[in-house]
Amino acid sequence: MTRVLVTGGAGFIGSHYVHHALAAHPDWHITVLDKLTYAGNLANLEDVKDHPRYRFLCGDIASRPDVEKATEDGMDCIFNFAAETHVDRSIGQPEGFIRTDIYGAYTLLEVARQRKAKAFVQISTDEVYGSVAQGQSRETDALMPSNPYSASKAAADRLAYSYFATYGLPVYISRASNNFGPRQYPEKVIPLFVTNALVNEPLPLYGDGENVRDWLFVTDHCMALDVMLERGAPGEVYNIGAGNERRNIEITRLILDRLNKPTTLVRPVQDRPGHDRRYALDCSKIRALGWAPRVTFEQGLEQTIAWYTENRSWWLPIKTGEYLEYYRNHYRL
Ligand code: NAD
Ligand code: TYD
Repeated sequence: MTRVLVTGGAGFIGSHYVHHALAAHPDWHITVLDKLTYAGNLANLEDVKDHPRYRFLCGDIASRPDVEKATEDGMDCIFNFAAETHVDRSIGQPEGFIRTDIYGAYTLLEVARQRKAKAFVQISTDEVYGSVAQGQSRETDALMPSNPYSASKAAADRLAYSYFATYGLPVYISRASNNFGPRQYPEKVIPLFVTNALVNEPLPLYGDGENVRDWLFVTDHCMALDVMLERGAPGEVYNIGAGNERRNIEITRLILDRLNKPTTLVRPVQDRPGHDRRYALDCSKIRALGWAPRVTFEQGLEQTIAWYTENRSWWLPIKTGEYLEYYRNHYRL
């Protein structure tokens, strides 16, 4: 039996990883620790709620008592997905990012050290490299994060490494590119634009719409994490990306086209402060371990649009309440 702690398992990528891991690892007993912030949703784990090798605990990764309680029977392995994740929110209110993304990671690392965990997987991001004008970021490149979200993730990334170098904790660090897929909170650009288009609301496109992201379908990210853990080396960093560089304006047009909606729905809005122009990853290191993405960008987008079209009951309530207030303030609607 392997006791696995998955933090942030009620969020987008964490919930996909829980589904994946319960199916792929028959000896894993998974505890999800999640604070259920606005981004956490137990509906994301509804399918597995009665699974005999799964349990859910509501708690905060920045609270040592919560983390100790979640691991009181031991902790063999931990996947730290829990984080505040939205760049625009980090610009408006950075404090929660410092607390969860940095202090939360520190708390988990301390308890992992105490419990003598055999693996600590820190889910980092390509955003730690900052904007890349040309070429592709390699794992050895300098980190130049340029907003409070990416800076807090960079701090956690290097703090995790320090626990490997200093205490010998077997730490594995992934730096994935922008994920997309079902169950992503509709503040991130693809689900925001799909759901807005479905209800004929404007699509707020930042700046000139020419910013580039390298898109990775979420299930491919989950599989890469397993490859990193099984075949990678502790203390190492692995970039994970599918090489799907797309400009925001291209994605916007694809979504509108697929949903038969007019381009008049596009609303150019003021640019995000410090908006990174482009992210791009060199993924030869994870590919050398045998990983390759299985879902093309077009297949993934098709699946994602279909899911949001068929699951209005998941996202329609989100577009009211607290989120609506945030949304109206942010876009000054
Ligand atoms: P998300 O915002 O959908 O989910 C985050 C989850 O963490 C939520 O369930 C939330 O309730 C939980 N959480 C937040 N603060 C917590 C706390 N203090 N204690 C316990 N739980 C807490 O995020 P996501 O998009 O699924 O991202 C997951 C991880 O992957 C993050 O670490 C993120 O930085 C990283 N990442 C995301 C992407 C992407 O494109 N979404 C790309 C690369 C890396
Ligand atoms: P986002 O999904 O927030 O991810 P990140 O900033 O972490 O890469 O944004 C992806 C791209 O889409 C980014 O270049 C900003 C842009 N964007 C818009 O044009 N409009 C929006 O309303 C949002 C949320 C993002």
